[in-house]
Amino acid sequence: MMRIRLATPDDGAALSDIYRPAVADRTTSFEVDPPDAAEMARRVAATLEHYPWLVCEDAGQVTGYAYASRHRERAAYQWAVEASAYVRDSVHRKGVGRRLYESLFRVLALQGYQRAFAGITLPNEASVGFHEALGFSPVGVYHRIGWKRGAWHDVMWLERRARKSCASRFAADAAHRPHAGVTRRGDRRFGTDSAVLACAAGRAG
Ligand SMILES: CC(C)(COP(=O)(O)OP(=O)(O)OC[C@H]1O[C@@H](n2cnc3c(N)ncnc32)[C@H](O)[C@@H]1OP(=O)(O)O)[C@@H](O)C(=O)NCCC(=O)NCCS
Repeated sequence: MMRIRLATPDDGAALSDIYRPAVADRTTSFEVDPPDAAEMARRVAATLEHYPWLVCEDAGQVTGYAYASRHRERAAYQWAVEASAYVRDSVHRKGVGRRLYESLFRVLALQGYQRAFAGITLPNEASVGFHEALGFSPVGVYHRIGWKRGAWHDVMWLERRARKSCASRFAADAAHRPHAGVTRRGDRRFGTDSAVLACAAGRAG
């Protein structure tokens, strides 16, 4: 059975495996050296300090992941995130990405984040279709912004707002800062990790 949960550093090997083709064989990612398990574990731990990183698990195997990251560093950008999803090639178009993003946006809304952006190296029909299906709309295209595999590549940017339903619970806090600690286990402001995940899985909020 498919389930969505927070990633842990122990997922590093599976995440590295899923991400590798996007780096080594394609222009999907603008990284050029595939990060190994230890590096992915480090990224998970660093991301969870402020943003959700979720995995989809099916019969004990991690089939995909989605996470949010900072859009830009300057302070006024703190409410904006970038969202990314990667699903194992063997299980594309089976609803894994949708489940991950639906949960990701519930957590982001719970944390008070306002806007999400996604940058997609063109062409990537699957990712553009996926993001549009999940509520993103096009912003514009950065032309010839990246050089990889012997060619220049365009990046299309899309945006969407955070889902409303969970956000309303914490609207009063929205004027201050995003709730970074929500993805840490046992955060006192939000109760237990399981409460966050219940929201992320669509059972609450
Ligand atoms: C993009 C990606 C994450 C989508 O994940 P997925 O699990 O295959 O997507 P889902 O099955 O949840 O699809 C949800 C919806 O997205 C859209 N979609 C998904 N794949 C699509 C495709 N190949 N073409 C057009 N639309 C597509 C559809 O509307 C789909 O709903 P439907 O199947 O009911 O029609 C996956 O293709 C992937 O990992 N690609 C390689 C890595 C990548 O490009 N990541 C994005 C980086 S910007």
